[in-house]
Amino acid sequence: MEEKPQQMPPAWYEPGLRHIWLPYVQMKAMREPLAVARTEGCRIVLNDGRELIDGVASWWTACHGYNHPHIRAAVERQISVMPHVMLGGLAHEQAYTLAQRLAALMPGDLERVFFSDSGSVAVEVAMKMAVQYWVNQGVRTRKTLLAFRGGYHGDTTGAMAVCDLDVGMHALFRGFLPEHVIADLPVDNESEAALSRLLEERASEIAAIIVEPLVQGAGGMRFHDTEVLRRLRAIADRFELLLIFDEIFTGFARTGAMFASEAAGVVPDIVTLSKALTGGTLPLAATVARRKVFDAFWSDDPAHALMHGPTFMGNALACAAANASLDLFEREPRFAQVKDISAALVRGLEPCRGLPGVKDVRVLGAIGVVELERIADLGKLRARFVEEGVFIRPFGTTVYLTPSFTIASEELARLTTAMVKVVSEDGAGIS
Ligand SMILES: Cc1ncc(COP(=O)(O)O)c(C=O)c1O
Repeated sequence: MEEKPQQMPPAWYEPGLRHIWLPYVQMKAMREPLAVARTEGCRIVLNDGRELIDGVASWWTACHGYNHPHIRAAVERQISVMPHVMLGGLAHEQAYTLAQRLAALMPGDLERVFFSDSGSVAVEVAMKMAVQYWVNQGVRTRKTLLAFRGGYHGDTTGAMAVCDLDVGMHALFRGFLPEHVIADLPVDNESEAALSRLLEERASEIAAIIVEPLVQGAGGMRFHDTEVLRRLRAIADRFELLLIFDEIFTGFARTGAMFASEAAGVVPDIVTLSKALTGGTLPLAATVARRKVFDAFWSDDPAHALMHGPTFMGNALACAAANASLDLFEREPRFAQVKDISAALVRGLEPCRGLPGVKDVRVLGAIGVVELERIADLGKLRARFVEEGVFIRPFGTTVYLTPSFTIASEELARLTTAMVKVVSEDGAGIS
């Protein structure tokens, strides 16, 4: 058999690999990352010429595909005028316009937007807002947050502390991190009663409840229904706690509605956004607060100000990209696309149900999940998908698809077909 010509890695690859520190991986044992030459719509073009259909949208960000001309034009226009100015003492059109547009999109009186540069920092800001909300009103005892089992909110210190340390990646930091209260989501009457009992004892030390609404993403793509969010709103009201929705994954139509809060008909007190905010093109995050939260900081006392200000907050390029991304939600049929993707995921993944080793198959919006009993060799499984011409990146026991909303139906079919094929076969690294 003729040998395939061995492609040389690009000149930057080996020298860079000796110096770069990569995320979430034991680098000594890892399979080497794939060198990417460029992206085209929903495809990743590798340096060796192979093209992969992207099932992940780069950690759930690239909702319009990778190279949308409208976002590119907006960023190019902005960089020729002004790439960045600090938000301390200076104002610029892109950030101010974006703040106003986000406020108009959010439910209820969620109307004050604090910009930062990553999801984890948006969570840090939300936590600081929640604690200081009480301090500014003379309540100094509420310095703990209530978070949920299976939850994930980021990798910075504050955000790690509200993750589920038992299922998450941060257990070794137990003892270093502040201890918050971790409870079960109130998915039924029994767990709701348990949560109420917990709060009867401890509400006076709690500033806020934080939850990933509808989907616990990095914790295993676990879904809950909108009723859970309505319960949480009622509980937060009863015990006078703030309610934070971390919509970093769910925001911008991933679950079908623009925001999970909208799907549930619930107005949380603080919302965090990032990922698809710029259509996945530039780093940007936002923490959006209701009027009553902002009002607790509006004061004649300078000590009541929010002492936070990331250097690159409200970066003009990122805000231009985000404004362009919002244009696309207005101009292009994103919600219809998510609906179609959802139906195709249900159809396409159904054959996985009942296969040996498959624990569950579930779909919500443009999220399709095949949960396995176990994955023996994650690296091998990931490599099998690449052999099939798709980029799918399972973690834990979860194999999932979160494609761009602009994905063509044939491309999506290739993703689901690859899922069914690889999950069915022996030797794919699953058992
Ligand atoms: C729900 C949620 N919150 C926070 C984060 C952290 O965001 P970032 O990785 O941008 O810091 C993530 C990232 O996956 C997330 O899914």
